[in-house]
Parts: sequence; C-alpha cells; structure tokens
Amino acid sequence: MKPEYAVIGCGKVGTVLAKLMSQAGYPCAGVASKSMASARQAALAGGTTRFGTDNHDIAVRADIVLITTPDSLIETVCRDIAAKKGFKKGSTILHCSGSQASTILSAARDCGAVIGSMHPLQSFASKDISGNPFNDIIVSVEGDPEAVSTARHIAVDLGARCTEIKTDAKTLYHASAVTACNYLTALMDMAFKLIGYAGVSSEDAFDILKPLIEGTLKNIENVGIPQALTGPIERGDSATIRRHLTEIRSQAPELLPLYTQLGIHTIGIARAKGSLSGAGAKKLEKLFETL
Ligand SMILES: NC(=O)c1ccc[n+]([C@@H]2O[C@H](COP(=O)([O-])OP(=O)(O)OC[C@H]3O[C@@H](n4cnc5c(N)ncnc54)[C@H](OP(=O)(O)O)[C@@H]3O)[C@@H](O)[C@H]2O)c1
Repeated sequence: MKPEYAVIGCGKVGTVLAKLMSQAGYPCAGVASKSMASARQAALAGGTTRFGTDNHDIAVRADIVLITTPDSLIETVCRDIAAKKGFKKGSTILHCSGSQASTILSAARDCGAVIGSMHPLQSFASKDISGNPFNDIIVSVEGDPEAVSTARHIAVDLGARCTEIKTDAKTLYHASAVTACNYLTALMDMAFKLIGYAGVSSEDAFDILKPLIEGTLKNIENVGIPQALTGPIERGDSATIRRHLTEIRSQAPELLPLYTQLGIHTIGIARAKGSLSGAGAKKLEKLFETL
C-alpha cells in the first residue's frame, strides 16, 4: 500500500499532481486550496471526496503533503499549518519550487515531519492534461534523506527521472533552468529580429532557423561544449565579426550589447575548444570592446 498524499494549493501543478499521483496508486487523503472551486476541481482529478479551504485539516490526514501554492506563499502556508498542528509526525512535506530550497519548510520539521523539494523541469500551462507531463522529464530533489527517498519514489512512479541537487545550490540550479528555457527564448527573439531586419517575415523566421537550432542541440548532445561550437568566432574570423558589429550598430543598435556580450563569452568557448589562438582571441576581444 502506498502512502496517502494531500495537495495544498490546487493550481496547475497541484491539480496535475493530484491526478497523476492517484493514477500511480497513491491514495488521496484530500486536497485544499484558497478557493473551494479549485479544491473541488483537484478533488475530482485526484478521485477524492475530501476537499476544502482549511489547509491544516487536509494536511493532517496525509503521509505526504505536497505544498503547491505560489512560491511566495509556501513558507507562510507551511508555518500556518504547523502552528495549527496540521502535520502528522513522520510525514513527508514537499514543495515543487525550482528556486526555493526545502529549508523554507522547516516549520514542518519542527513538528516531526521530514522536508524536501521535488522540482519538475517541465512547463505546466494548464490544469487540464491529456498525456502525462512527467513522462521522461527530470525531477530534481533535495532535502532530508527520508524526504528525498520519498520524492524519488514519487518521481519514478509518475514516469520521470530523478536527479539530486544540493540544498544550498538551488538558486544557481534555478538560474540555469531559467537560462536554458527563458533565455533561449530571448536568444531566439534576437535571432528572429536580426533575420527580420534582413527582410525575412516573422512567419518564416522559425522555419528557416529551425534546422540550425535543432542541429546545434544535436551537436551539443553528441559532442558537448566546447566541441559543438562552430562559426566565425570559433574560426577566428575577425573580418566577419567586424561586419556583423558594424551592420548591427547601424540597423539594430538595440541588439548590439547582447550580441557583444555573447560574442565575448563565445571567445572563451573557442579557446577551450582549442580552435582559436591567444592572438586571435585578443583581436576579437578588441573588436567587441571597440566597435
Ligand atoms: N507552472 C509551472 O510550469 C511549474 C513548473 C515547475 C514547478 N512549478 C512550481 O509549482 C508550484 C505551483 O505552481 P503553479 O504554476 O501550479 O501555480 P498556480 O497555478 O498559480 O497555483 C497555485 C495555487 O495555490 C493556491 N493558493 C494560493 N494561496 C493559497 C493558500 N493560502 N492556501 C492554499 N492554496 C493557496 C491557489 O489556489 P486558488 O486557485 O484556490 O486561488 C492557486 O491555484 C510553485 O512552487 C511553482 O514554482 C510550477
């Protein structure tokens, strides 16, 4: 028999977890949210008739409590439940935030519970899912050893793969996820704008660049960084970079600082690859600094 779980905070992640945890055979002890409507919807997803707006009243019944409120409320909600003696001794309290460490749940630890975090590296845009968004994704876990073990079991039971991270490294871990996801979007926005200035319509921009984007990701997967780096900086082609900088300054000056910063970072990668000489790197650095 699997342990009973409760969800506190029935938004996108909480509701999806209620559905998938129940499907994976975890009995649902109940769900609670700020609004009765959200709690009712998650109860339906999790197959339970117990739902409400009193977080402690639901949490106290569970062996595993998943606090899936917005990040800014996790600590307060946890403290409030603890103050009302709403955590069972020996239960496992988890949150799903990528940026916050499990230590924000320490009020639950003071009640004899173990605490941890399990962050799914996935984007949940809606409460309604057709497939299983946990399938084959990475879930990063940290916290008390018993909580980490429970979180690992949950992740694997939901179809995900697990990786353990250090509690005090959570902020940098989250910065990495933001870079890989949000800043990739920002980078693509810059590429689309530059190709737009070159006369390509925004509808065509993605189709044209897609094989290049996918090929680059494949190269990174196959040979890693720095070997995957190609292009003018990797070749030490300062004449081409000079033309880029001159043209961007004239046609798209708002993009010049980012292009320059990325260029300087790329010089370091080319040096690590061994394709760019020290003299070539200095020449490029000077170009980026002066143009
Ligand atoms: N969305 C993602 O892509 C994603 C991905 C990975 C991790 N996460 C993490 O998952 C957690 C939840 O994110 P989310 O996107 O699911 O947020 P969300 O959709 O905004 O849901 C949060 C829910 O918390 C409820 N809530 C607010 N105050 C509460 C309180 N005092 N007591 C009980 N419930 C309360 C709200 O309920 P009502 O609806 O009743 O007002 C809301 O539905 C966060 O830690 C987030 O960082 C999210």
